[in-house]
Amino acid sequence: MQAGYNHPYRKPPRRQGNPTAALALVAGLAVVLVAVGVWWFVLRTVPVTVNAQELNVHEGVTVEQLLSDNDSFGAKPGNLLSVSENVITEGGGTPATVVVNGEELPVDQFASRGVFSGDTLEVTDGVDTHEEHEVSTEVVAPSVEANGTGAIQFVSQWGKAGEKEVWTGKTSGEKVDKKVTKEPQNMVVSYLNPKPQDGKKYMALTFDDGPSEYTGKILDILKEKGVHATFYNLGENAENYAKLCKRVADEGHELASHTNQHMNLPEQDRDGLRSEISSAADRIEQASGSRPQMIRAPYGAFTTTEWGRAGDLISCNVLWNIDTLDWKRPGADAIVNTVVGNAYNGAIALMHDGGGNRSQDVEALPQIIDQLKEAGYQLVTVGELMKLDGRFPEEVVEGKVSMPEDAVLPE
Ligand code: NI
Repeated sequence: MQAGYNHPYRKPPRRQGNPTAALALVAGLAVVLVAVGVWWFVLRTVPVTVNAQELNVHEGVTVEQLLSDNDSFGAKPGNLLSVSENVITEGGGTPATVVVNGEELPVDQFASRGVFSGDTLEVTDGVDTHEEHEVSTEVVAPSVEANGTGAIQFVSQWGKAGEKEVWTGKTSGEKVDKKVTKEPQNMVVSYLNPKPQDGKKYMALTFDDGPSEYTGKILDILKEKGVHATFYNLGENAENYAKLCKRVADEGHELASHTNQHMNLPEQDRDGLRSEISSAADRIEQASGSRPQMIRAPYGAFTTTEWGRAGDLISCNVLWNIDTLDWKRPGADAIVNTVVGNAYNGAIALMHDGGGNRSQDVEALPQIIDQLKEAGYQLVTVGELMKLDGRFPEEVVEGKVSMPEDAVLPE
């Protein structure tokens, strides 16, 4: 041991490690860990079953991604449909139908539902979906139906509105009646032949198309014979022959309307039809002081459509049982024979006091009245026939019908 070189203690020289190598080791370890993590969390595949076929998928992959990576396994998407089932967007419905482990997966979970080892998926075609829509309530008009057969038509049941649910597509703007939520009540028009029930015999003579220059002579005959008839005046003739129109009413006959201008009513639109009826009533009221509700439609043409459009304006539409065909001018005897030969209790006979040369009606009338009386008939108005029958509603017989407030017309 050398003096002065005696170090009682000396720190042993520190082993000089390589810092770079240590860092590399740590980094290496980290890389391995990350790699394992990546493999574990991202790249590791697990077996699943899709449409009965084994498949390895990255664990936790979403259903959406799985479909996207595999072309939806051949499933076709549904379409986006409008409220009336028109295609708005091809393929705009659900992309596919996916059943995971026996339970259908809602479409809004496709993006969040992960697929894990052992899952079983069934992927089939998507379904159509419908656009968003607004729901509103609208009125359903009643229909009109005819009931029975006979010369006199009247409303036996008024129509009442129903309700329906209507869907309006927010994209398409289409409107669709979805369902009736309240059924309407149909308007019913009854057709009935009057049949007086008191054991006596009655008939009604009726005169159309007047007043005219022949009306005065016919009124004279009726007055002389002491019988009453029913006159279906045209509105424009009532205006032109106002005194005769008033005389019909004043002498106790039944004054009714043949509408205004003798148009074929089924050829008129709704407004034209209503105007033909109401303007005639206006003119007859102007001339006579009373407003008729009873009509006889020209040519008898008044279908359920006309009832549906104007049933609130009239009490009844009166046709006929015996047509004299007087307008063909078959001779007074032929007119007499047609009425008398076809007479029966309750019959309504059609003649004319206007619209042409009615001299044969004037000539035939006294014989018709005399022969019917001889056969035991009483001649009455159509209103009286209805009253004697007993089955007609009182307001129809009286000519005072008003549509109830809660009723609506079909059109
Ligand atoms: Ni006529």
